[in-house]
Amino acid sequence: MISTRFTERFGIKHPIVCAPMAFVTGGALAAAVCRAGGLGIVGGGYAGTLGGEPDLESELSRAKSGKFGVGFITWALARVPEMLTKALRHSPSCVFLSFGDPRPFAAEIRDAGAALICQVQFLSQIDVALEAGAAAIVVQGTEAGGHGGNRSTFPFVPEAADYLKIHSPRTLLVAAGA
Ligand SMILES: Cc1cc2nc3c(=O)[nH]c(=O)nc-3n(C[C@H](O)[C@H](O)[C@H](O)COP(=O)(O)O)c2cc1C
Repeated sequence: MISTRFTERFGIKHPIVCAPMAFVTGGALAAAVCRAGGLGIVGGGYAGTLGGEPDLESELSRAKSGKFGVGFITWALARVPEMLTKALRHSPSCVFLSFGDPRPFAAEIRDAGAALICQVQFLSQIDVALEAGAAAIVVQGTEAGGHGGNRSTFPFVPEAADYLKIHSPRTLLVAAGA
């Protein structure tokens, strides 16, 4: 078993996160990842603003085992912020925000007792994530599945690690885009 600051902070066995993939990571998958010792995060995706997304509350109900989280595409959540309130009623251990400014949602997440995880595509977004009080920052290289930015994972992750070491050494780092 590999023990890291991330496994300790999130109370999981293995330092593996199942990303909150829109349309893909439903409650059953998130629960399975949690049972296997990872961190499963239900994909809240576009927060229901796109037609055809699975019903988030039903998926969250299915995730009930383990320390599952929930994730949103932040710019979409900003259109329907009440979706965060609804999701937090399911007591996720963390909220994973990506693609947009997490700061408007940070206080509600913190007050609900959930950890904030921010996914970034550029170094300049790290400061915003730190300002929002992110417990962990997911550094997403362009090799990541789904959508993302244009920094390559291999140079981007160590650069972000060096930045965090100087500016916020307690903040955890996760790499995305293998
Ligand atoms: C099908 C698919 C959908 C995704 N949807 C989201 C999403 O809704 N929100 C998000 O933050 N990231 C999303 N991602 C990106 C993941 O958060 C993560 O960066 C990516 O899966 C890492 O790439 P890897 O699994 O290839 O290492 C998605 C990825 C895939 C493959």
